[in-house]
Amino acid sequence: MGQKYHSKLVNASEIIKKARQNKYAVGHFNINNLEWTKSLLETAQETKTPIILGASEREIKYIGGYNLVVAMVNALLDSLNITVPVTLHLDHGQSVESCKTAINAGFSSVMYDGSHHPFVENLKNTKEVVEYAKLNAVSIEAEIGTIGGEEDDGVVGAGEIGDPKEAAEMVKTGIDFLAVGIGNIHGPYPKGWPGLNFQALEDIQAAAKIGMVLHGGSGIPQEQVKKAISLGVSKINVNTELQIAFVSATRKYIKEGKDKPENGKGFDPRKLLKPGYEAIKATFDELISWFGCKGKGKG
Ligand code: 13P
Repeated sequence: MGQKYHSKLVNASEIIKKARQNKYAVGHFNINNLEWTKSLLETAQETKTPIILGASEREIKYIGGYNLVVAMVNALLDSLNITVPVTLHLDHGQSVESCKTAINAGFSSVMYDGSHHPFVENLKNTKEVVEYAKLNAVSIEAEIGTIGGEEDDGVVGAGEIGDPKEAAEMVKTGIDFLAVGIGNIHGPYPKGWPGLNFQALEDIQAAAKIGMVLHGGSGIPQEQVKKAISLGVSKINVNTELQIAFVSATRKYIKEGKDKPENGKGFDPRKLLKPGYEAIKATFDELISWFGCKGKGKG
């Protein structure tokens, strides 16, 4: 692999077990670029909070490939002196091959998302990824049911509720945590969204007895987030909310004309991207308080 940095990344197995036992959820935040990654890592360290950095196949392609993402994160862990637990997780791996590529590159956790396949095929492929992940001490997330809305890869799920029997079967493969469709949606929640299906979550948790993953974590009302955690959600995935926070802060900066050459050096990307950077930090800080994981990365 030729990696220059000795990786300090950890797999998420123990982090999630601890969260489930202590009734909080660890935040998974998608990284969209260097600034995103840096602001998340800085704030995780400042607040002594464990963090899962997620990157989907499309995000990885955008940033510059699997090796670049691994090198970037490892280099930041060194240069920012990060000591809190950090996991680098492949989000919604669409094939066994992409999970293996991520593992070979140095990701410490992967999700195999076979929810677009019939369950039998999903199960078979998940088993293959589990085997490879375990050989490499990498944690693995699988999915049952489907999550509504548009995923980053353009796959549109109708949002099917997960089946507890399938959850129990999936857990037997040796996965570490399980993503469930319980009425959650990627992207902003539409008007009239009926909310999370807590009965389904309870039934799936009773059958699975491992940490559940709530995708589409942006914009769910706080009391629903808290209830989901009390029913076994131990990992919450967020992307859209940070993107909106970033864009709103950037738009304000531009609306105020701060980027105009006649107003100084505000067109410098380091200045232009600063308000968005600060907005990511503030939003992350608020969400980790909701999730209960703030400060749980000490020692
Ligand atoms: P949101 O973009 O809706 O927060 O969902 C993120 C997600 O679930 C990534 O897997």
